[in-house]
Amino acid sequence: MEQAATQVRKQEARRKEGGKKREERKKAPEAAELSEGVEFLPVKEGWKIVEEYWVVEPYAKVKIVEIPELGGQKAYYVEEVQLTREERRAVDKLIDILSVELEPPASFEADVRQHIIEQARRLAEKYRSAVRVPKASWGKVLYYIERDLVGYGPIEVLMRDYKLEDISCDGVDRPIHVWHRDHESIPTNVVFRNRDALREFVVKLAHMSGKHISAAFPIVDAMLPGRHRLAATYGEEVSPKGSTFTIRKFRERPFSIVELLESGNIDSWTAAYLWLMIENKMTVMVIGATAAGKTTFLNALTNFFKPGFKVVTIEETPELNLPHENWVQLTSRESYGLGASKVGEITLYDLVRLSLRYRPDYIIVGEVRGAEAFVLFQAMATGHGGMSTMHAESLWAAIRRLTSPPMNVAPAYIPAMNIATYVERTLLPDGRVGRRMRNLWEVEDYDKYREIVRWDPATDKHAIVGSSVHLATVAARVGKSVEEVMEEIERRRTVLEWMKLKGIKDTRDVFVWINRYYINPREVYELARSELEELRVKPKPPIVAPLPREEVVVQVAARPAPRAAQSEALARLRALSTMVRARMAGGPPLSREAAAVLKALYELGGQGDRAAISRRSGLPQQALSKALSELARRGFAEVSITYTGEGAKTIYKLTPEGERAAAEL
Ligand SMILES: Nc1ncnc2c1ncn2[C@@H]1O[C@H](COP(=O)(O)OP(=O)(O)OP(=O)(O)O)[C@@H](O)[C@H]1O
Ligand SMILES: [Mg+2]
Repeated sequence: MEQAATQVRKQEARRKEGGKKREERKKAPEAAELSEGVEFLPVKEGWKIVEEYWVVEPYAKVKIVEIPELGGQKAYYVEEVQLTREERRAVDKLIDILSVELEPPASFEADVRQHIIEQARRLAEKYRSAVRVPKASWGKVLYYIERDLVGYGPIEVLMRDYKLEDISCDGVDRPIHVWHRDHESIPTNVVFRNRDALREFVVKLAHMSGKHISAAFPIVDAMLPGRHRLAATYGEEVSPKGSTFTIRKFRERPFSIVELLESGNIDSWTAAYLWLMIENKMTVMVIGATAAGKTTFLNALTNFFKPGFKVVTIEETPELNLPHENWVQLTSRESYGLGASKVGEITLYDLVRLSLRYRPDYIIVGEVRGAEAFVLFQAMATGHGGMSTMHAESLWAAIRRLTSPPMNVAPAYIPAMNIATYVERTLLPDGRVGRRMRNLWEVEDYDKYREIVRWDPATDKHAIVGSSVHLATVAARVGKSVEEVMEEIERRRTVLEWMKLKGIKDTRDVFVWINRYYINPREVYELARSELEELRVKPKPPIVAPLPREEVVVQVAARPAPRAAQSEALARLRALSTMVRARMAGGPPLSREAAAVLKALYELGGQGDRAAISRRSGLPQQALSKALSELARRGFAEVSITYTGEGAKTIYKLTPEGERAAAEL
C-alpha cells in the first residue's frame, strides 16, 4: 500500500506540474491535449476510417484510420472522453483523498480495482461538498481515477484492447507502435513528448511489476500485473534516444491446438501425430525466431497431456498457461544483491535440477538459453518427457547453439530431443501474414534429422514428406503394429477435425474432450465420426508428398568431452529403450522372423504391403508386426504412408542398409 501511496503522491506532483503547463497553453485544442507529457494526435478530416470499436464503452474508442499523406498507411487512433476542467479537478482531488484515506481491502482475495472504485464512490459521497461531481459526469470521473490510479494511465486503452498483442515505445516524439491482430504492426496516435515523463512512466511500469529500474540498473525484464511481459530501458543509459519499453500482452485464454488448426498453423495429421507422440512422452523442441509463436505453439501442445501427467514448467517469466491440475510452475529469480554479487539468485539451471525431484512426466523449459539446456537434455535422455522452445533461425542453427557454450549439450545427447519443429511468422499466399509450423523433423542422431512434415508456402498446406521411425518405436512400445498406430492417428485426426468443425476450441473445452478421449477413446471417436457423417463432412486426407530423404550432417566442433563424462553419457544412452536407435551396421543378429521378413521384402523387389509380406514370409499377423518393428528399429525397413479413398495404406520398404543386410542373408 505504501508503494502505491508513494506512486500516487509522485503522480500527483507530476499532475500539478502538468496542470501548470496546461494553464499556460490554455488554447490548445482539446483532442490533442498534452497530459503528463503524452499527446494524443487527433484524427484529421478527410482520413478514411477503416474500422472503429469501443474498448471501454462509452469512454474510450479506437479508430483504425488510413493516412493519405503516408500513402494510405494504417494507424491506430485512441479517442478517450475528455474531462472538463471541473471534472479534471474532481479526479485529481479524489485521487488525492484516496491516497490518504484509502482503506485496505478486507481480504487478500478482493479485486483491487473493484475495491478502489468502491472506495472512490464512498469518499465522493463523504466529500460531496468538496468534490462536486454532477451525476452525469460520475462515470467519466471513475474511468479516469481507475485509469490513472490503478491502470496504465496514457496507455490504458492499449492495454485493455484485447486485439493488441504488443505495445512498444521507442522513445520520445515517436508514436507508440502496436501489433494489432487484424492490422499487424501499426503506429498509434499516442506520443510521449517529454523525456522526463517517459522516464517516469517507465519507472511506474517497473514498480507495477515489483521491480526496480534506475540509472544504476537501467534495464528491466519483468512481469506486469495480469502477466503481461515488460521489457524496458531507463533514461539514456543504454538507449541513447531515451527510455523505451515494450509490453507483450498476455492472452488470458491461450491458443488451443484446435485454434492453431483452424488458423492453418498446423494440420490435423501433424496434430494427431504429435498427440500420439506426446502421450508416449516423446520430447519436443520448438524452434523459431523472435515472436514466431514458439511459446504459443508449445503451450498448445500441452493440450495433449494425459490427465494424470505430472508437469513441471520452468521459466524466467511465467508465460505458459496449462489447464492441468498436476502442474508445478517454477520461475527463476534474479539476485537481490548489488553489482556482481549473485546473492539469492535462482537460475533456470537450479530449477531444472530441482524439478527432477518432483518425478515429472514432463519438464517444460519455457526457453533454453544457457546451462539449463545441458540438464534438460540429461533429464530427457534418462526417460523424462521434455519440451522447450529455443530461439534460432533454423534447425541447424539450433543444433549448433545447443552444442556450443554456454549450453554445451554433448552431441551424444542431441537425439534425446526426439522431435524438432520450426515455427515462423510468414507471408501466406494471399498476402496476409500468418504463423505456421514450417517443418517437423524426427531426430535420429545428432547428425541425422528425418523431415516428416513440411509446410508449402505456395499452397499454404502441410504435407507428409518422409516416413517416421518414431511411429515404429511407439508401436513397439505399446505392442501394436505400425498400421494400428497409423489408424489411431486417423481416429485422433477425426476427433480433432470434429472439434474444429463444432467450434470446440476454447482451451478448457479442448482439454475436457482430450481427457474424455483418453478415458473412452471409442465412444468419443464414434461420436465425432457419426456427427461428421451426419453433417456430410469428410475430413480431407492428409497430403503425402514423399521427398528424397535429406540427410544433414551438422558440423559439431570437435570438443572432446572429459572421458568419464563421455562414457557415462554413452552408458546412459545405451540404456535407453525409449530412444530411436541410430542405424547400426553391426548389432545383434536379427530374430528368425525378422530375417524372414527381410528376405520376403527383398524378394518382393524391396517393398510391399502387409498382406504381400505375410503371404511371402508365411508369418502370422502378430509375429509379422513384431518382425516389422524390429526391422524398422534396426533401420532396415521404412514405413511409408499412402492415403487412398478408404484411408491410410502402409507400405514397407527396405532401406539401403536393409538391402545390404538382405543380400548377406
Ligand atoms: N498461431 C497464432 N495465431 C495468432 N497469434 C499468435 C499465434 N502464435 C502466436 N501468436 C501471438 O504472437 C505473439 C508472440 O507469440 P509467442 O510469445 O508465442 O512467440 P515466441 O516465439 O515465443 O516469442 P519470443 O521470441 O518473445 O519468446 C503473441 O502475442 C501471441 O499471442
Ligand atoms: Mg517465447
